[in-house]
This record gives sequence, structure tokens and C-alpha cells, in this order.
Amino acid sequence: MVRDPIGWMRDEYNKLVDANLNWRIRELQGPSTPSAMIDGKEVIMLCSNNYLNLSNHPKLKEAALNAIKSHGAGSGSVRAIAGTMDIHLELERRLANFKGAEAALTYSAGFATNEGLIPQLVTKNDAIVSDELNHGSIIDGVRLTKAKRFVYKHTDVADLERVLDEAEKDNPEKILVITDGVFSMDGDIAPLDGVVKAAEPHGAMIYVDDAHGEAVLGEGGRGIVSHFKLTHEQVHFEMGTFSKAFGTMGGHVSGSRDMVNYALNKSRSWLLSGSHPPATAASCIAAIDVLETEPIHVKTLWENREYFVKGLKDMGYDTGFSQTPIIPAMTGESSKAVALSDGLYDEGILALPIVFPMVARDKARIRNIMNSGLSMEQLDIALAAYEKIGKRVGII
Ligand SMILES: Cc1ncc(COP(=O)(O)O)c(C=O)c1O
Repeated sequence: MVRDPIGWMRDEYNKLVDANLNWRIRELQGPSTPSAMIDGKEVIMLCSNNYLNLSNHPKLKEAALNAIKSHGAGSGSVRAIAGTMDIHLELERRLANFKGAEAALTYSAGFATNEGLIPQLVTKNDAIVSDELNHGSIIDGVRLTKAKRFVYKHTDVADLERVLDEAEKDNPEKILVITDGVFSMDGDIAPLDGVVKAAEPHGAMIYVDDAHGEAVLGEGGRGIVSHFKLTHEQVHFEMGTFSKAFGTMGGHVSGSRDMVNYALNKSRSWLLSGSHPPATAASCIAAIDVLETEPIHVKTLWENREYFVKGLKDMGYDTGFSQTPIIPAMTGESSKAVALSDGLYDEGILALPIVFPMVARDKARIRNIMNSGLSMEQLDIALAAYEKIGKRVGII
């Protein structure tokens, strides 16, 4: 038989389609705005990570345009060879200052940060202690290591203590404790103060992925380390991304100068991948400018969050463990989440279902992500749709 080299992909894809597990990609026809054009339909957007609508802020757009004029469309190289421009360094200085850290390092994306940095922090003689619900990019980063892995129950500090004691039995040279800051499926916050307390007696490194917490939590959106009034002597790696509330693109890590010196010399995703186009670096700087000078965005985000959560709860929705602008509307069964999402879409609301295998079979939900750019009127329209469709589907 002659082998069909890539026919297996069609078979695998068809299996996904048969199981209704394939992604149906929607086309955003224009900017990611609180009211956006998707597949020819105007919708109120409840599933974008653009929490503060900064991707449309005039200062960010202007900075990007100006950087193209002054520095060109691309950087021409990886950072280590000839791709470090003055604006890349300026961004790292500004970010470190914003985060209250000694130094910061930017990567092409958050995923590339976790995948490039985590494997450089431990060897086969070490241990990694990880929250059971950590993000996939952390899991992939951990998989690239030879360290022994230990998992603790989600946000459970007592279990973390137990697992740390367990890890010590192997006498590891180093221990890395790693957690999301805000968990992207439930919108709950890692008890980072408790994590620090538990890890300190073990001399463990602490790594937090604050992709959904920065520009959302903490003083003026400075993130989870600020939220818990901790320092970078206590939390050694404050990792994040510009692709969410900052409204642009790119990963980063903040901490000590020693950490940054080490990370940039070792992370393969930093050394072997092109640096950001000037427009991206410049708009990231502008995003920091906006956060430092216009506190209204973070304030409005939280006001909108409170209004929307109250509205959903008053109708009888279960919003799970949400403590942040990530607000699940729990449906239990996957079919109900899909029916609710479809019904909302007909009403002009884009809010997508999260179903098995992304969450446990009986924990399906719609994941709403609040946005500071949504008006009260838009929130009321969205809530009215939730009431109408939720009753029809039998959720409330
Ligand atoms: C917790 C977490 N970490 C990392 C990432 C990856 O960030 P980026 O989009 O910059 O690759 C994401 C994005 O989905 C995330 O939610």
C-alpha cells in the first residue's frame, strides 16, 4: 500500500467534527471593540481579552504609526543578534518601573515566555510544584523540563504545603513553585500571599503567570504582586503578556537584574526568535503610559464587572468562583452552554461556551470577559439577552 503522507490529518479532523469538538473560527471584520463586527453581524463582545479596550486607544495607535515611520515595519533580527532596538530597551525599563521590579525582559509572546523560560529554571535534580489548573503554556513549559513534577490542589495552600514536604523527600537542589495569577476559566485569584508563605521556608523559587491579572489587579493595574503587596524578592518571576489588557502583543517577565541576565542568555524562545516589530514595542510603551496616567480604565472595568456579576446573580445565574472581570455563567451540561451561547449570538451577544475537555464534563459554562469600554446600555442589553435565553434554555 502506498502511504498517504498527510491523509491522517483529515481523519483526525473529521473525528473532531464528528465529536463536535472542532473550532469554528469566527471572522472579526474590523477592530476588536466592545461592539464589534463578527461574520457580518454587529455583536456586543463579551469574550475578548482586550479588558481595557486599549487596542483602540488613540495613544497606542499613534505610537505604532510613529514607530513605523521612525524605525520601520520590522526589527530585522532576533534580540541577541541585531534585533534589539532602543524602543525594546525602553519598553523593558518602563515595564520594570511599572511593576516595581529591578528589571524586565520581553518575549515575542506569553506562550513563548513560559515555554522558553521555565525549562531553563530547573534540571533533573530539581522539583516543580504546580497548581492543578495552570495554563497550557505553563504545562508545556514544565513538560520541556526533566525536573520531578508535583501538583497541588487548585489554590489550596494547605495542599501546597503538603506537596512541598513531599517534594523535599527527594532532596531536590532547587524547587520551583508555579501558578497562574488569575485563572482564566474561573476568574479566581491565586492566593499568592499564602503561596509565598508556604514556599519561603523551602527556599523555593516562585513563578506567577499574571496574564489575566495585569492591567486589572493591583494599584493602577500593576498586577498580582502589587495586589498582594508583595515584592520581587518574594515573587521571583512575575510573568505576563501584552496580548490581553495591554491591548497589544508580547510576553514578559519582571524580577531581579540577575534573573533577567540569566533568562536572556538561556531562553531559547528569546534567543532564537525574531524581536517585536517597532510598532508593537511602541504601542506596549504607550499602553504603560495610559495605565500610569489614566486610572479611569481600570476603575471602569471593575465597575462594569460588579454591575454585570450582580445582574447575572440577581437573575439566578451561578457565576462560579469569579473574583475578577472573568465571569463564568455556569450551565453544568455542555449542551446547555452551547444552546445559551447560540441564543445569545442571535440576540447580538458574543459570549462563547467553555465545555469538556476544556473544563470537567459537568462544569460547562459561558465565559464572559468584562470590558471597560462597554456602556451601561450595552451591559443592560447583554443582561436582558441572558435573562431571555437563560429562561428558554432552562438555566434560570
Ligand atoms: C494564563 C496565560 N498565560 C499565558 C498566555 C499566553 O499569552 P500570549 O497570548 O501572549 O501568548 C495566556 C493566553 O491565553 C494565558 O491565558
